Amino acid sequence: MREQAQKGGGDAATKRQHEKGKLTARERVTLFLDEGSFIESGQFVTHRCSDFGMAEKRFLGDGVITGHGTVDGRPVFVFSQDFTVFGGSLSGAYAEKICRLMDQAIKVGAPVVGLNDSGGARIQEGVVSLGGYAEIFLRNTLASGVVPQLSAVMGPCAGGAVYSPAITDFVCMVEKTSYMFVTGPNVVKTVTHEEVTSEDLGGAHAHAGKSGVAHFTAANDAASLALLRHLLSYLPSNNAEDPPFVPTDDPIDRADPALDSIVPADPNRPYEIRDVITGVVDTGSFFEVHEEFAPNIVVGFARLGGRVCGIVANQPAVLAGVLDIDASVKAARFVRFCDAFNIPLVTFEDVPGFLPGTDQEWNGIIRHGAKLLYAYCEATVPKITVITRKAYGGAYDVMSSKHIRGDVNLAWPGAEIAVMGAKGAVEIIFRKEIKASDDPEAEEQALIDDYRETFANPYKAAGEGYIDDIIEPSQTRYRLCRAMDLLKTKRDTNPPKKHGNIPL
Ligand code: HXC
Repeated sequence: MREQAQKGGGDAATKRQHEKGKLTARERVTLFLDEGSFIESGQFVTHRCSDFGMAEKRFLGDGVITGHGTVDGRPVFVFSQDFTVFGGSLSGAYAEKICRLMDQAIKVGAPVVGLNDSGGARIQEGVVSLGGYAEIFLRNTLASGVVPQLSAVMGPCAGGAVYSPAITDFVCMVEKTSYMFVTGPNVVKTVTHEEVTSEDLGGAHAHAGKSGVAHFTAANDAASLALLRHLLSYLPSNNAEDPPFVPTDDPIDRADPALDSIVPADPNRPYEIRDVITGVVDTGSFFEVHEEFAPNIVVGFARLGGRVCGIVANQPAVLAGVLDIDASVKAARFVRFCDAFNIPLVTFEDVPGFLPGTDQEWNGIIRHGAKLLYAYCEATVPKITVITRKAYGGAYDVMSSKHIRGDVNLAWPGAEIAVMGAKGAVEIIFRKEIKASDDPEAEEQALIDDYRETFANPYKAAGEGYIDDIIEPSQTRYRLCRAMDLLKTKRDTNPPKKHGNIPL
């Protein structure tokens, strides 16, 4: 029976799977886990359906491989949908296998990794299959914030089935062979008369760049599995643990002189915030998340002196680093993940404010911007902020300011902390004076220079105690490593409540 179970849907179906450039469910599990560590459970489970001639068609395992193993020596639960058996479609028995695994993962406190490749609800089982999905969604939700949940989408994932990966913490889609959509191209054509391919509608790059559903893309199955293993190296096994410490040869007092001149003298000129991040964190440790989505904010994991942190950084090289709807939602979700899993937040701030316009206002920048504010406010993990240049308006408050429980708030000497940029401010508060002047242009420039002198620096904020210190950019790594070390024993809590009401 074991031999038969190992064959999944049989040799012909395996051949078809390989021809599509996909690995089989079992090959994926083997590749993902540490060699020889997999312990399977439920290998002999079969479905219980007898309608539509199903009684004669039974496969051991019923289309999903479930069990546990290790990744870098740490326990991980994994389920792998087997497209070679009924197209990987989900039956009642199949759902039970996944649910048992998730229940156990919550109890023992180990991550759940789902490898998705399925035609959705097993049509022959009808509502039993729908019920199975709902049982999984419930457990995805109950496990959220308790153990990390990672999804690879490695084939079809359509209809309501998309909501299981969607609830998990991170989704990695394989290029060309995977797609996710609530309704496929045919339904889209009937309803909206749009002609669109599966790839354009719900392929890896559609979700990585446009919808934000996918946090990562990978060129093939093997790359996707390697990426998930790498991701796990930054995460604790559960919400009661700290993330793994990885000793580093990179000295904590390594100065990076390039940072002293990275910010251009002209405040309107861009620079690449990733150069700041990589110059500061442990060499080679920066791992970006959601790279293609809302590139005006950069988020990802890194280590400082061996300790994992979550980086959130405005990106002056894209839209001047402005906060818009997508950037707010992207960063809010990342901040909440880090807070749920004891990962300190390091924020690099250079933000001219929120993006103006009817598109943004009517689509709810108020509601979405509030998510980021809310996420930072409720976060009780260590919060360290470095203002590299602009911290204007509401965005100053939002980006982990002292007022919302920032623990260590630093600024570079060229930081500008003000209600708005000098030109905009002068045009509002000195409109009459400029108009009345003999030389309005010169008058305006003089007023701008004066405003900049007064506000466009970090000393006013430091004078109020809102900034703890003004540091040379080259010293940033040292100060962040020291702050991470100081804050490793930080404890803070929020008032008791059932849950807050984040503005969704
Ligand atoms: C039962 C299914 C199945 C399904 C595929 N198969 N999907 N069996 N239930 N949902 C079977 C096929 O009959 C076939 O069996 C084998 O799997 C391989 O399928 P093919 O069609 O030959 O493969 P391919 O050409 O690669 O196409 C894959 C596919 C297509 C695009 C996924 O199979 C498809 O459109 N399936 C139906 C998708 C769907 O509508 N699902 C329900 C969505 S709604 P044989 O025996 O011939 O090898 C949903 C609701 C979830 O999921 C609700 C949650 C709340």
